[in-house]
Amino acid sequence: MSSPAVTYRLVVVPGDGIGPEVISAGRRVLEATAQIFGFGLDWTEVLVGGVAIDAYGTGVRDEDIDKCAAADAVFFGAIGDPRFSDPKAKVRPEQALLRLRKDLCLYANLRPVTVQPILAASSPVRESLVKDVDLLIVRELTGGLYFGKPSEQRVTPNGREVVDTLTYTEHEIRRVVKLGFELARGRRKKLTSVDKANVLESSRLWRTIVDEVKADYPDIELEHRLVDACAMSLVTRPAQFDVMVMENLFGDILSDEASVLAGSLGMLPSASLGERRTEHGLFGLYEPIHGSAPDIAGQDIANPLATILSAAMMLRWSLGQPTAAEAIERAVTATLDAGYRTPDLVAATGEVAGIKKVGTQAMGDAVVAALRSTEPQGLGAAEGVMR
Ligand code: IPM
Ligand code: MG
Repeated sequence: MSSPAVTYRLVVVPGDGIGPEVISAGRRVLEATAQIFGFGLDWTEVLVGGVAIDAYGTGVRDEDIDKCAAADAVFFGAIGDPRFSDPKAKVRPEQALLRLRKDLCLYANLRPVTVQPILAASSPVRESLVKDVDLLIVRELTGGLYFGKPSEQRVTPNGREVVDTLTYTEHEIRRVVKLGFELARGRRKKLTSVDKANVLESSRLWRTIVDEVKADYPDIELEHRLVDACAMSLVTRPAQFDVMVMENLFGDILSDEASVLAGSLGMLPSASLGERRTEHGLFGLYEPIHGSAPDIAGQDIANPLATILSAAMMLRWSLGQPTAAEAIERAVTATLDAGYRTPDLVAATGEVAGIKKVGTQAMGDAVVAALRSTEPQGLGAAEGVMR
């Protein structure tokens, strides 16, 4: 076989819990896509999270952050391990993920929420409300309460006291808000900025900056929403939203809430992006929004579709392969339409006729098969068919 025209350098982080399982399925889908579309993938695997604490005594090593920084993109499973959940634990796997986000300057986290038509009835939210949902949460990822200092417990004469700090610089707010406007411009031209400006000073600066940036985007409809009321509207009228931009913790909370619209947390991908460009696109880290789910790890029952859809986002944003990204997305839809369901999706609908209950790896294989059968180039490459 001739060597591919371009080879992308990827760091893969399987992580903890179900991470390695969903990554294994996602990697096979990416390999199949590479074969069909004629590009190469050069993988470097690194340990991050609980597995790295076990192996090296730290959640992530400096040299592994350097490897990530030198790659075109990072393909990430999940981290988190209940063995480290003691509030007194000095090292926690989650710190490693936060460090990766910060050190790699991945300030914007994109979490698209779409509903596969065939799963619309699986959502706990009524089908008529979810069927037209197509929203994109843009979560600020390297500021706010996650990183503010001080963040500590103190003992005072009156008992224990605790502080977390919500800090944002003007620059940090402006760049993510600008990205929100840009993304809205490529979609339905509506931006919802979420804050708590009736209480928080940080939100008042956030709102002021959003209004300032708006001057450059006269074509975009802007609305400000308070986070509490917005949380309610996300389930009562979710189809009204297009792009939603918000600070780190609000984004963490609202994106899990929004995931119920899609029928399962196992369906939602994400991209974490920064400012650095490679020769192919924006450098980024791609991960399913779900966590490491230790309770179901090692059983081949986790839904790999969020990871597979994250691979599609990686092709689109970091690798300059939008056609390949769309092919994966179509293959996922075709696989669901053909009745394949991991247990989380079966639980949502019950075992109705025509459903094929499958495990993690079989779901990945079904997507690969759909990819090969729906892509004309796929048939050509795999079977030498002339078209
Ligand atoms: C997420 C997760 C993380 C976060 C955890 C694992 C630190 O919940 O990506 O949404 O809070 O950002
Ligand atoms: Mg979260």
